[in-house]
Amino acid sequence: MPNPLTRERIVDALRGVFDPELGSDVVDLGMVREITIDGGVVTVGLALTIAECPMRSQIENDTVRKITAIPDVDDVVVETKAMTKAQRAGLMEVARRRARENATPTQVRATTRAIAVGSGKGGVGKSSVSVNLALALSRLGYRVGLLDADIWGFSIPRMLGTVARIEADSETRLMQPVDIHGIRVVSTGLIVDSEETALMWRGLMLSKALDQFLQQVEWGELDYLVIDMPPGTGDIQMALSRLLPQAEMLVVTTPAKNAQKVAIRVADMARRSAMPVVGVIENMSYFETPDGHRFELFGQGGGRELADSLGIPLLGSIPLDPALGQGADSGEPVVVANPGLRSSRSFMAVAERLVELVPPAESETCTGRIARLFAGLEMDELGAGAQRSLTG
Ligand SMILES: Nc1ncnc2c1ncn2[C@@H]1O[C@H](COP(=O)(O)OP(=O)(O)O)[C@@H](O)[C@H]1O
Ligand SMILES: [Mg+2]
Repeated sequence: MPNPLTRERIVDALRGVFDPELGSDVVDLGMVREITIDGGVVTVGLALTIAECPMRSQIENDTVRKITAIPDVDDVVVETKAMTKAQRAGLMEVARRRARENATPTQVRATTRAIAVGSGKGGVGKSSVSVNLALALSRLGYRVGLLDADIWGFSIPRMLGTVARIEADSETRLMQPVDIHGIRVVSTGLIVDSEETALMWRGLMLSKALDQFLQQVEWGELDYLVIDMPPGTGDIQMALSRLLPQAEMLVVTTPAKNAQKVAIRVADMARRSAMPVVGVIENMSYFETPDGHRFELFGQGGGRELADSLGIPLLGSIPLDPALGQGADSGEPVVVANPGLRSSRSFMAVAERLVELVPPAESETCTGRIARLFAGLEMDELGAGAQRSLTG
């Protein structure tokens, strides 16, 4: 049987690895050197601008994650080298040409990590996880956007308790996200006023809505853009990966042991959209009584099983918590309304784990980082967020 892995498939996946400093992907920038395929083992040679840049581990990690996400790949080896002076000059020329051609197709910066929250089936808590995870990331000090990609099944505005409306800047005509609890939010529910308007827009906008949200919204500088995905494995996933090649998927599942079926669907979704799956979140894992007794109402081990069968980490488990449902109904998400609850603390832990796995992109040059590091030694009042971005 011929090897299903081709150089082309590897190169396609590498188009999702960005050098945030140069604002383009590693293929475009000519950083990809040799690719060897030996059975399921892929070795990729990368030439980076400078050998000892903090960006290095980010690009290496991203490369490993994107290639591991390709079905049929068993193992990935990344070999990095520093570019020669001549290669560097060539690369800078490409970077400049890119900038000139204004190659950025969306308003989401290359330095923004895009995390799509999806699932293999409906009603598992994608929207609840998206909202609380976005708020948890924000509480950790990151700049966070929340995009409701469930265009006509939107639930984000209700969960955040907002009736605000998105407005466009009079000059740029770009839509301005609504600021809620410190995160920047966009949802169809923040545009349409009533069910009737929704109906009117439906036919007009559906296919274009996601494009609009990525191209016509002034997202600004964000560390993370959390995207609440609609149920199913359809067009929105494909459109998202086309428009935002850096997008990665987080899968929400329940503890029920139906992992096999869900895994097949998720793997299929990842393959068709070429979106790597970064991890699994188990929701509604257990119910805890005030005196600390745990009941596993919906089974046990489903998250772990799904993570293992996809070969990705389980980021954490969120308990079944009536306060979470009430918070969603009253527009007061638990993470902000009641941070002491076990469910809120679980979301914080998941957010911390996500930051470890998908660290915020390095938006500074090496020289800039060193300069700020020195400045930081003198300025103790630097916030935790700034410290974190320095240490990395
Ligand atoms: N951990 C949880 N504890 C209690 N209720 C939850 C939890 N997660 C989700 N829910 C509730 O379950 C329902 C479905 O969740 P939702 O986030 O809308 O799922 P999805 O977006 O996947 O359709 C909502 O009513 C929500 O409040
Ligand atoms: Mg939803």
